[in-house]
Order: sequence, then C-alpha cells, then structure tokens
Amino acid sequence: MNKIHAKITGVHGYVPDYILTNAELESMVETSDEWITSRTGIKERRILKGEDQGTSIIGIEAVKGLLEKTHTDPGEIDLIICATCTPDMLFPSTANIIAAAVGADNSFSYDLQAACSGFLYGLTTGAQFIESGTSKKVVIIGADKMSSIVDYTDRSTCIIFGDGGGAVLLEATEEPIGIIDTMLRSDGAGVPFLHMKAGGSRRPASYQSIDAREHYVYQEGATVFKFAVKNMADISVKIMERNNLTSDDISWLVPHQANMRIIDATAKRMGIGSEKIMNNISKYGNTTAGTIPLCLWDYESQLKKGDNVILAAFGGGFTWGATYLKWAYNGQD
Ligand code: UT7
Repeated sequence: MNKIHAKITGVHGYVPDYILTNAELESMVETSDEWITSRTGIKERRILKGEDQGTSIIGIEAVKGLLEKTHTDPGEIDLIICATCTPDMLFPSTANIIAAAVGADNSFSYDLQAACSGFLYGLTTGAQFIESGTSKKVVIIGADKMSSIVDYTDRSTCIIFGDGGGAVLLEATEEPIGIIDTMLRSDGAGVPFLHMKAGGSRRPASYQSIDAREHYVYQEGATVFKFAVKNMADISVKIMERNNLTSDDISWLVPHQANMRIIDATAKRMGIGSEKIMNNISKYGNTTAGTIPLCLWDYESQLKKGDNVILAAFGGGFTWGATYLKWAYNGQD
C-alpha cells in the first residue's frame, strides 16, 4: 500500500466586522499612522466586540463555512484541533465548544497552545492522525481574540494585534501531495521576552495582578524581532534544502504575519520575490494562530493543484517552524 498523505481540501476564515484603524489608535495612545505603517506594515485590524464573545465565535464561523464549502457532514469529522492562546476559558477546550456548536458529534477535540506557531503545530499533529490511518477527516483551526489580552495603553503592543482566524479540512490521499515535510522547534529561553505574567497556575488572577496590569501580552519587541527574523528565515531555508527546493520551485511563501519587515527578511533569505508572498498584514495585523489560515483563505482562488507552498511561523515560547506542502486542489474550482 502507498504511503497515506494528509492533504488540505478546503480553507475558510472569519474576521469580526469592527475595524480598528491606525487613525483610531492615534486617539488612544501616542502613535502615528506613519510609525505603525513604516515599522510594521499594518493599517487596520479587526476586533471582536460584545459581551461573552470568545475565540470560539471565530472558530465556529470559520468551521461552519469550511464544512459548507467542502460539502462535509459535521458527523464525518473525526478530530478537531484548535490552536489558540486566547481560549474562551482555561478549560474546557475551545475546540470542545466549537465541535458542539457545529454538530461534530462523532469527533474528539482539543486545544493546542504554541502561540503564533500554533497553526503549524496543529497542522502537523492533525496530519499524523491522517497519515497513521487513525482519522479520515480532521479540522485544524488557528484562531485568537488577541484584543482580550492586549493592553490598549501600551503603544508597543496594541498596534500589532488583531482578532481572527481560519480553519482547514485535512483528508487522506495516496497521491504524493498535501503535507510533505515539517520542521518544528521550541525554546523556553524565549519566555522572558514574550509572555502573559498572570492568569495561569503560577500567578492566578488577584487584585494585585489586575492592578499591576499583568493580564496582558508582555513583549520585548526588539528582542523578539531579532529572534523571529533569524529563526523563521533559518528554518524556511532548511526545509527548502532538505527537500531540494530552489526558490524557482516555490509557488508561495505563507509567512506568519507579525511584521512586514520580518516577512521581507524571511523571503529575502529564501530568494523569493514579493509576488510569491502571501500577505494580508495591512488589513488584519497579527492574529497570532490565525494568520496562516487567514492568508490561505484570502489567496485560495490563486492556488493551483501541485503548487509548492512553504508555511513559516515564529512566536511566543519561543516556538517556530516551517511546513512544505503541495497544494491539493485548484482554488477556483
Ligand atoms: O507574533 C509573534 C512574535 N512577535 C513579533 O514577531 C513582533 C516582533 N517585534 C516587532 O515587530 C517590533 O519590535 C515592534 C513593532 C513591536 C516594535 O518595533 P521596533 O522597531 O522594534 O521598535 P522598538 O521597540 O525598538 O522601539 C523604537 C522606538 C522607541 O522609542 P525610543 O525609545 O527610541 O524613543 C519606542 O518607544 O519606537 C517607540 N515606539 C513607538 N513609537 C510610536 C514603540 N511603539 C511605538 C508606537 N508609535 N506604536
């Protein structure tokens, strides 16, 4: 029997309606559209407003759209993985909430936390269930409501993040397409530079933690920037080398959308021109686990069967990775 590969057979995204523009941020903190645009490439981001609206809302909308467009009965789904660092609650899993809402009654579901690399970690994990023959249909979600953990008085972080996410359907194939290779890494030495201080078991919520504003993203931006540029570029070049790919062989680079300068540096190291880079940072900002599926969703109509695609990410942990896949369908079909 031929090796079973996991292929993406559909992608769908969701972003909330509310648009937080650079102009509105100028009225909230001391910043300017010029600074944000030139330092990050971001013009606007989406915010999920309203009471009791968690990350599951994003996941539910993305998965409902995915099941509809792929004509998939929710009862056929074996597994749902939700990559997020902003779960609705510490427990149960946001994936459990999404699975129930979309009617995936025969599935098991769980969350996975690898910050901005979460979607790649989830995709890799889901692919293993397909490749081993354990599961036939797996949904991978990358979604975050970053506005729930962003300090809108901190100009160095509030300009970057936004809310949104997407989902892909993974199915089995004996064709040599789909996910071909993945390299994932993590290094806890990155913790001091990007984390949320309170709200976990080490430092549960208290009056003191709230007064000290410890329930927000803490980031030493310049340090994270240096690690992101080096590690995302290094691992993307390594996965090209390991698969004997030249820049001409690559149809698309799908980079995590943290900062346009990090994206450009990664593409430059890979020798890839701007016409092959998926990029929507200007309209959504950094949606953490949501960026890669949102890019695939935005560019789906331009993807063709057999396209060589490199997904690359870097995030809190630190975590980083790259996935090489051969796209499995014509986006316009
Ligand atoms: O998503 C996964 C992981 N995250 C990342 O990959 C993010 C990586 N880091 C970055 O993208 C960038 O470091 C930032 C966009 C966060 C910051 O850009 P930077 O060019 O590294 O700025 P900086 O932190 O070195 O600050 C430079 C200056 C500082 O002023 P002084 O000390 O030089 O007077 C900041 O106070 O820019 C100032 N600054 C701002 N000025 C206007 C910081 N944020 C702002 C702002 N508006 N929003």
